[in-house]
Amino acid sequence: MAHFEKANSLNEWLDQRIGLNTLKKVMQSEYWIPKDINFLWAMGMVLAATFGILLVSGIFLLMYYNPSTDLAFDSVNYTIMTEVGYGWLWRHIHGVGASLVFLIIYIHMFTGIYYGSYKKGRELIWISGMLLFVLFSAEAFSGYMLPWGQMSYWAGMVITNLFSGGSLHADGLVEWIRGDYVPAQAYLSRFFMLHVLLMPLAIIGAIVFHFGTLRLPHVNNQEGKEVDFEESARLWKEGKRAESEVIPFSPVFLSKDVFVMGVYFIMFFYLVFYHFEFAMDPVNFDPANGLSTPTHIYPEWYFLWSYEILRPFPTDPGLIAFAFAQVIFFTLPFLDRSPNVAPANKRGAFHIWFWAMLADMLVLTFMGKLPPQGIWSTIGLVAAITFFVLWIALPIITKLEKKL
Ligand code: HEM
Repeated sequence: MAHFEKANSLNEWLDQRIGLNTLKKVMQSEYWIPKDINFLWAMGMVLAATFGILLVSGIFLLMYYNPSTDLAFDSVNYTIMTEVGYGWLWRHIHGVGASLVFLIIYIHMFTGIYYGSYKKGRELIWISGMLLFVLFSAEAFSGYMLPWGQMSYWAGMVITNLFSGGSLHADGLVEWIRGDYVPAQAYLSRFFMLHVLLMPLAIIGAIVFHFGTLRLPHVNNQEGKEVDFEESARLWKEGKRAESEVIPFSPVFLSKDVFVMGVYFIMFFYLVFYHFEFAMDPVNFDPANGLSTPTHIYPEWYFLWSYEILRPFPTDPGLIAFAFAQVIFFTLPFLDRSPNVAPANKRGAFHIWFWAMLADMLVLTFMGKLPPQGIWSTIGLVAAITFFVLWIALPIITKLEKKL
């Protein structure tokens, strides 16, 4: 056993036992971040912090939530909202957090696309990121079931019905997923388990994997430049900081992250206190009723674009289109055939592709919320077709791209 000196501070005591100072030293002198990055590179940490807030607020809600079809609605809308001290606050934090986490995920994804951060050795960063996207989607969907309101019930009905595979009529699979013919107690119990246990565990594992994939290729930078990390780190350590192209993770990069997080949390709590209603669907304040279908069923805003890809087509092609939309982003590193790691504005046709894809997904999102009638449904159809055309065009335009 190692010799333990008398510790004069908590820091020293911890250092002797878990090598705290070694960790600090690694973060200060072994882990480097390129200098040429902007506030968008703080989004990863903002996401990690928001996930932390969702975990903490979720734990408080879990103390009073009751996962039974008879009591779930009241345990949320009555017990937590009116009886438990500050229950309303934890619920609003959880609801706003669930919505904002997707906004930040989309910003983080599109930053990666704009700067080509999925290319040349960074493919696994992208794929693990997409895995996180899928896991967060499952987490959000399973959480949406828990208040057992009208939208929980009917959105659950619509989404689980998709597994029947249209003309494949795989009704047995749908019943297996639900544990019943319709969403009922078995269904609520298993989605409760998914939401509070399995999905959070899988997300934690995927975050560790995502961080692991960042270590060797390092994060990208605004110009997509290949930084000589060893040489730049040496310059920094010699005090030639202006000549070095990197900064240490701690405390320099971390302090920038903390600043951006500060601004974000001001906005976050402004929404929690003054505009939480944007994260709560009014229809879900009616208890689930299997005998009364709401006139218009739609998912939360962050799923609307993929919902609108499903909706304008007949059942079978619609399901294929929907499945395509779920997986296609995973393949981005392989469909982009250009050797250039550079910001989109330097990549000719890809620049147009980037903005067209962003605009198209925004149009799909707006159309997904509107009833599928008249002009809205035509615009939705055109936007859905454009989505496919853009993905088919990607390998062609990037193959033709000139080497920078
Ligand atoms: C929701 C959980 C997520 C967390 C906690 C997270 C965290 C992080 C962190 C801390 C970084 C490094 C700093 C930065 O660039 O922001 C990063 C980088 C990155 N993430 Fe994520 N991320 C998440 C989801 C995603 C998703 C959904 C994608 C897209 C598919 C993604 C793709 C990337 C890429 C490509 C990079 C590299 C950026 C670069 O090299 O410049 N991440 N992530």
